[in-house]
Amino acid sequence: MVDRDKSGETTKDFSVDVPMETPGFFLKGSAHLNWGMKNRLSRIFNPKTGKAVMLAFDHGYIMGPTSGLERIDLSIPPLLPYTDCLMCARGTLRSCIQPEIDKPLVMRCSTGATILKDLSDEVIGVTVQDAIAMNASAVTTQAYIGGEHEKETLANLARLINEGNLYGMPTLGVTAVGRELVRDSRYLGLASRVVAELGVHFVKTYYCEPGFDEVVAGCPVPIVIAGGKKMPELDALTMAYKAIDQGALGVDMGRNIFLAEDPVAMIQAVRTVVHDGEKPDKAYDLYQTLKK
Ligand code: R5P
Repeated sequence: MVDRDKSGETTKDFSVDVPMETPGFFLKGSAHLNWGMKNRLSRIFNPKTGKAVMLAFDHGYIMGPTSGLERIDLSIPPLLPYTDCLMCARGTLRSCIQPEIDKPLVMRCSTGATILKDLSDEVIGVTVQDAIAMNASAVTTQAYIGGEHEKETLANLARLINEGNLYGMPTLGVTAVGRELVRDSRYLGLASRVVAELGVHFVKTYYCEPGFDEVVAGCPVPIVIAGGKKMPELDALTMAYKAIDQGALGVDMGRNIFLAEDPVAMIQAVRTVVHDGEKPDKAYDLYQTLKK
């Protein structure tokens, strides 16, 4: 765990100024994967920048027609030209996304819970074979570390990793945070490291401060951040900038894009932060310029 003394200083040495070497392949901790894994990861992360802008619109699998995603057939297609990767559920993909698109997909594979009951009480509902049949580039489920169903959700993740390894299919491990837990670097560092040690190929977690750089340094595979609840556009761009600056290799953002005043402008502003390292104020200027 990321330990801190009373003043908040870390008592562990993460050597945050020394990036992990990436010999033989551009992605952190991925050099010893097989060709299929590397090829799929190279579709998600741009090999030129090493980064990814993923668009998450899987929220309906637990929330139903949530705000911004009432009509996925209307809200998501305009964003597709600007995203590197889709993250959604099987039914949404098949019903609302044209199969002609040339974008990689991270397939949400869990089910069993809704916002009406305990979110952590999940099982795997989509097989890796079906994800392959839908041409997914990765599969995903979430682990509720410290939650009531910690063991079951880790078992779900293990199942995807084990089956995915047979087919060269990477697994994204999402660190979901139960209501009773705090999203600080101590917790997120533990959760990210646990799923990485289990064998996920990349991790989706939350940005936190202080200590996000330690979360990244303590995780031996790429980290992308979730956007979380909708916030003002400049704040979301600032969070993305700080995360990338501290070592995240991308964002997997949903509400802060599709609930923005102008989602198409927002995703382009996010892109420039992630791929070009643009500062938040400049990216916000771009957002304002592009905004209809
Ligand atoms: C995570 O498990 C959710 O299903 C979303 O994919 C995730 O929370 C990212 O979306 P947002 O940026 O809206 O938090």
